[in-house]
Amino acid sequence: MNAVTKTQALEKMARDFAAVSGVYNGADVTSPYEQMKEWREKTPVLEGDILRIFRAPSQADWMGTGRKVYTVFRYKDVHQILRDDRNWLSKQNAEGFGSAVDNFLLTGMDGEEHHKWRAILQPPMMPNAIKKWKDNLICPIIEDEFIGAMRPKGKSDLLLDFVLAFPVRVVYKMFGLPDDMVAAMQSAGWALQIVGGPRFDPEEMKTSIPAAMEAGQRLYEYVLPAVQERRKSGVVRDDMIGFLMGLNVDGKSFTDEDITTFIRMTLLAAGETTSRSFGNMIVLLLERPDVWERLRQDRSLIPKAVVETMRLETVAGHLARLAARDMEIGGVTIKKDEAVTVCISSANRDPEVYANPDELILDRPMRPVMSFGFGPHICMGMHLAKLEMEIALNAMLDLPNFRLDPDYPKPVIRGIQLRGPDQLHVKWDVA
Ligand code: HEM
Repeated sequence: MNAVTKTQALEKMARDFAAVSGVYNGADVTSPYEQMKEWREKTPVLEGDILRIFRAPSQADWMGTGRKVYTVFRYKDVHQILRDDRNWLSKQNAEGFGSAVDNFLLTGMDGEEHHKWRAILQPPMMPNAIKKWKDNLICPIIEDEFIGAMRPKGKSDLLLDFVLAFPVRVVYKMFGLPDDMVAAMQSAGWALQIVGGPRFDPEEMKTSIPAAMEAGQRLYEYVLPAVQERRKSGVVRDDMIGFLMGLNVDGKSFTDEDITTFIRMTLLAAGETTSRSFGNMIVLLLERPDVWERLRQDRSLIPKAVVETMRLETVAGHLARLAARDMEIGGVTIKKDEAVTVCISSANRDPEVYANPDELILDRPMRPVMSFGFGPHICMGMHLAKLEMEIALNAMLDLPNFRLDPDYPKPVIRGIQLRGPDQLHVKWDVA
């Protein structure tokens, strides 16, 4: 039996979450947007890595090899790089994380290997496939495990009571992992420790990378028995484990170890990104009571609110690519094996594409937003993440007079990468 209580598990997860925020916010930045604007206008392809400038781990050179890195700020240049996976490679993404997840990382694969795995793994993540999870999984989790208990209280530390845990619960159930909140929170903590492995300071990496590897192993040891039990039981279930067990690739089925490795990789990507994006959305909307009220009255605007807030506050604000050959971007030559950090946060505020880019405008003409990446590596879980956020926002809109709690300081969205609110205390009226 697990001796840890749900509250203890959540608090531990919140500490792991805050630790990751700290890793990616070395320079303690609240708004990097003025600086990004200046670079976008004056040096749209900057020699240097914005992440290192802001004292965060460099994705383009996790291991500090000294590889030359440029940062790309304009939408058109970011777009050009992300859609071209022949000339702009992703393999360096696996340098920091790869060993913690047995080198099975879609974001670190290229070419044939990437296309093959993407084609195999993507179907259960497509809109038609995830639609079914709305009523039989996501809505019940949100109401029965979270909002139902929160509603009579009239106030909440929303990060702890809801934001951190709900995407984890959704994904774990969808994947077919054990229905155990405490174990889910503990293992989500290990996923966070893996994400927090890379560091700005190479000295810190001497301990943080082994710790990330150990967390990777613990996460593996958590998932594997669930897969083995399913296999032994012979029960066919319509979830991710069931889907993976039913697959046959090149005449071979996946082993339990293969399935575990895939699920572990996805757990890194699925939880905190959604938590941070949702937290940012709530902060941005509650800072604008008129927009909140408009959404409350017209729920058809919810999908736009999700996309527009993710544009303004992009969680995975920087992605990295490696030049496969000498390339030219924005008039600058990037040599083979040099790298770029593409600044999605800046692209998402490029006035060439978005009028009044620093304003939250629900009625903006829909343009592809880069917050889930773009091109062949575009987020595989984006339809799920959007659906989760839409349903959760709808539930918050139902809480009467939902507002920031005036007894606490206003939440501040922080960080250069993995941006998120430092805290989020809210109130509502109880009938
Ligand atoms: C709001 C939440 C999320 C955000 C902001 C986000 C963001 C991203 C971004 C920017 C990428 C592209 C990485 C690159 O091009 O290098 C990506 C890839 C990926 N995401 Fe997400 N993600 C979110 C939620 C999820 C969820 C819920 C899942 C799974 C259930 C997921 C699974 C993946 C996977 C597997 C990839 C790798 C795709 C590939 O390389 O082909 N993500 N995500």
